[in-house]
Amino acid sequence: MCGIIGYVGKKRALPILVEGLTAMEYRGYDSAGVCLQDSGLVRVRASGKIENLRERLSQQSLGGTSGIAHTRWATHGIPDEANAHPHLDCEGQVAIVHNGIVENYRELREELEAAGHTLTSQTDSEVLAHLIETELQTSSGLTAIRRALKQVRGTYGLVVMFKDVPQTLFVARMGSPLVIGVGRQEHYIASDPSAILVHTRDVIFLDDGELAAVSVEGVTLMNLDQSVPKKQVERVTWEVATAKKNGEAHFMLKEILEQPEVIENSTRGRIDMIGTRAVLGGLRDVSDSLKEIDRIIIVGCGSAYYAGLVGEYLFEELAGIPVEVELASEFRYRKPIISTRTAVLAISQSGETADTLEAIREAKRKHALTLGLVNVVGSSVARETDAGVYNHAGPEVGVASTKAFLSQLTVLTLMSIYLGQLRRSLSQQKAGEVLAALYEIPNQIQEILRERSQVSAIVDRHRNMTNCLFLGRKYQAPIAYESALKMKEVSYVHAEGYSCGEMKHGPIALIDKSFPSVVLCPEDSVFEKTRSNMEELQARGGSIIAVTTNAQLVSHLCEDVIVIPETLECLQPLLSVIPMQLLAYEMAIARNFDPDRPRNLAKSVTVE
Ligand code: AGP
Repeated sequence: MCGIIGYVGKKRALPILVEGLTAMEYRGYDSAGVCLQDSGLVRVRASGKIENLRERLSQQSLGGTSGIAHTRWATHGIPDEANAHPHLDCEGQVAIVHNGIVENYRELREELEAAGHTLTSQTDSEVLAHLIETELQTSSGLTAIRRALKQVRGTYGLVVMFKDVPQTLFVARMGSPLVIGVGRQEHYIASDPSAILVHTRDVIFLDDGELAAVSVEGVTLMNLDQSVPKKQVERVTWEVATAKKNGEAHFMLKEILEQPEVIENSTRGRIDMIGTRAVLGGLRDVSDSLKEIDRIIIVGCGSAYYAGLVGEYLFEELAGIPVEVELASEFRYRKPIISTRTAVLAISQSGETADTLEAIREAKRKHALTLGLVNVVGSSVARETDAGVYNHAGPEVGVASTKAFLSQLTVLTLMSIYLGQLRRSLSQQKAGEVLAALYEIPNQIQEILRERSQVSAIVDRHRNMTNCLFLGRKYQAPIAYESALKMKEVSYVHAEGYSCGEMKHGPIALIDKSFPSVVLCPEDSVFEKTRSNMEELQARGGSIIAVTTNAQLVSHLCEDVIVIPETLECLQPLLSVIPMQLLAYEMAIARNFDPDRPRNLAKSVTVE
């Protein structure tokens, strides 16, 4: 989950590197650094956000027409300058930037130190610079790098520069994304194509096990086994919608407020109201296989996983198909029973989450039909699955997912209708009912956003809370989990999401007047049961914040009530999550935290 950028060509490298880092700050912002080939390797690093590096660079005038840069999310070693990339070997012959994890770095470090190397950081990545330097004694260029990497267990997106090989960058990929941008007499390297689209749309996506030497003149490719891969230059056609805050204080708030439009974008061209059907062109080529599948396994992490839990209810209710939802980080270590009649659906906003990617690869190894529900066009999940559907939610910059999560629920609803109609397990009448209700959701969200002061008032009363529970049942249980994650992520309150029914199996022991609970209790098929849970909480002195469609039914049990519009039970999560996103955002602001760049987090988790 770090951001890498490299340049080799005729222009001054530094501005290109800093601009590329800024475009990838979402991938990590613990520290940043650059290294240029300017009569030797010249390195500048800074802890913290990229503006700290910019400040440091403004005090120097660095030349050079080739260089590498890195913005870090710390995996090993505290986020300080000494641990910032690029890393150098002892003699300053080799500079590297790395995204990934060297799992056997302790053994390698011991061997290197025993051989006389002095390592100056606490990171795993630094060992790569020293391994390559060692191999330079008996080889050079790509061969030295290949030999060094053969000793490594783990993942890498790696860019290397040699002091004695000017105007050439060396790259290698295993498990962490890297793309080569092809220009005229110049080349770019990036973790994410969006960081270089301003310069070129012609790119070479590296695959695992591939290396390349990239110079002004061209690209020389090699596999780890020394064979030569056949690669095409691909034309990236999608736009990187320049995410702007639209005058809002934070991206998170802007992205919450634009959700009515996001639903319209996610459904545009995908609802045929005349034919009363969902139209998903991305699934057309696999529609025959979708008729034959006998179950779906949904894999994802974090909010994407919680979206999958809502998807489970949707697919079972609307498509009549068995569904399991698995944490991607667990799925890939099990021995999942998968057949050719299993569809594995990966949900991922970034499309680069390492655990989700590995889960898809495991599914492919077992010949499942693999599908992707992805927001970032051209991302690894999108390219490695058999078919899929894009969210079209636009770039989500806030680290805490809001609009992408809502778009995932929206597209899962369409996928459930699509599958139900394809397999003739969903009546036209029910499909029409859901599609008509979905059409109303953007206006209903607008209504909630207009009343967002009811959330601010609650935050004023609860700004000092240190713990809270979020509770829901059936379709609202995953929203309870997601709401707790939002609260944890941006306000650092210890929030837990529970299914209402689980309370009496232990968690209710936590309840007293200092322990508030937020209960998602729209008037749905399980409302009475949820209200009983609220009475159990009240009986123990617990304070309750209710999110409901009918205040009269619960106001006697609660300290605070947030009223939301009513819709079909299967669509109610699209509405109940909105005030929960606002609650987390407002709580972060009230506690003087930056909701866009929460501590210890990054937008895309590309390490396992
Ligand atoms: C959500 O607010 C978090 N930022 C995080 O849990 C995120 O949902 C998770 O890392 C999955 O990311 P992805 O959707 O890009 O795969």
